[in-house]
Amino acid sequence: PKVVYVGNGNEKHVVDATIGENVMSAAVRSGVPGIVGECGGQMSCATCHVWVNDEFRERVGGPGEMEADLLDLGVSDYTEASRLGCQISITDELDELVVEPRPEAW
Ligand code: FES
Repeated sequence: PKVVYVGNGNEKHVVDATIGENVMSAAVRSGVPGIVGECGGQMSCATCHVWVNDEFRERVGGPGEMEADLLDLGVSDYTEASRLGCQISITDELDELVVEPRPEAW
């Protein structure tokens, strides 16, 4: 499945992801700017923060409780579109998923 990262100034990066990967790992492996994944997906850094495109919001679902806590503490632009990239698993259902990386220092 493909994941589409739309960055600052609408710069687009399309990544061929594998089932079982997550939105953070696929981005880091492909050098997508704006997603760092410092903690390696351990849910402790929030450097994988993304906004999920409206169209996919329902399919992706909202953050879990611990994830919401970290977003609350760790990012300054937490909205209802926010998820941690490392907590979104790639599935066939999410093919062409569009997310916007939200690094703290664009
Ligand atoms: Fe650290 Fe997602 S990679 S919280």
